[in-house]
Amino acid sequence: MNGFHNPIPSRHFPKDTPPSLSDFKILCSKTTQSKEYPLASSIQSNIPIYTLPPFSSLPPSQISALQDEWHQILLSGPGVFVTKATLPKPTITLTNTIYTSIIASELATAKGDHFSSAGNNSRIWNSFSKHALADPPSFIAYYSSPWLSAISSAWLGPAYRITAQVNLVRPGGAAQVGHRDYHLGFQTAEATAAYPKVTQIATQLLTLQGAVAHSDMPLASGPTRFLPFSQMFEAGYVAYRMPEFQEFFQESFVSVPLEMGDGVWFNPALFHAAGENTTTDVERCANLLQVSSAFGRTMESVDAVPLVEKCWGRLVEMFKEEGWSAEVEALVRALGDGYSFPTNLDRRPPQPGGMAPESEQDVLRRGLRDGLDVKGVLRELETMREESKA
Ligand SMILES: [Fe+2]
Repeated sequence: MNGFHNPIPSRHFPKDTPPSLSDFKILCSKTTQSKEYPLASSIQSNIPIYTLPPFSSLPPSQISALQDEWHQILLSGPGVFVTKATLPKPTITLTNTIYTSIIASELATAKGDHFSSAGNNSRIWNSFSKHALADPPSFIAYYSSPWLSAISSAWLGPAYRITAQVNLVRPGGAAQVGHRDYHLGFQTAEATAAYPKVTQIATQLLTLQGAVAHSDMPLASGPTRFLPFSQMFEAGYVAYRMPEFQEFFQESFVSVPLEMGDGVWFNPALFHAAGENTTTDVERCANLLQVSSAFGRTMESVDAVPLVEKCWGRLVEMFKEEGWSAEVEALVRALGDGYSFPTNLDRRPPQPGGMAPESEQDVLRRGLRDGLDVKGVLRELETMREESKA
């Protein structure tokens, strides 16, 4: 190989040349123009803010137009947007009482989280499943929200999986350092560097990060800090830990106050960090939604079977009253896995024409159509799961 000159460029980001801070500064100096996002109600600190009308008041074409804007924002715009009054306050208030009891029951074994020691923060990991098991009615009211479904599918397509964690930050709670999120935000710099450039860039298409405000969040309580447009920096997963990039984040981040029930949605590659809670009286609480593409792997596992067991009776009632309403469809998408693979093709061969075998969501839809009771639908899900094993 002596003297061999390979004309093919490296698939990796170079180890000997650090990412360019000046390029990053230029990228992040853009301004969000209101004419680019005509359906937004306002732009605050470069972040488009949307006031959502009742879902059923909009024809599908207008919902699709909103989804186009959101997709564009996440991909090649500021990378973050806010939806006002996304979930009704009574639903949030009821859900908060469930969270409070879950936190109390877990307190004895609290170990803190990856950004803060136990005390200032409370976390509920997998709040999604715990909520469903603790109180199906408020879980159903929450996750049948057609807006959650429309926002998730705008970025990920229809077969997403919702996971959620609650984060409660008390007065005095410290800020996080600027970072990017799952997938590569949970790997070391060395592990990240081993992935090809395009793989690093592509991971942002596999997750939508969101937070639903479960308390009012005035600026002093430290709502999430964002660096708009930073998701487009290709070497961002290499750069975000470097001191000069951290410093620029500290100088340049923006945040907007939120009210209980608002949602904030962002590309996982956007530089961001939770703020410091400098109030004496606000317990800042968010349900952090991490919604995964069918083509990605979730961070937490969600077992659909016990959730369907708890929610099936009410879902059947909703279906009888509403038919295939947006709420029924949103709940089906929240409960079941929308993707048919991995599976066992000996036992579950492709359908005619090479089409995928049924997914969990398909089973739920069939169960509703055929009027299956809870035992019947659970039997179908268990059979599918058994036949999918290697
Ligand atoms: Fe984060």
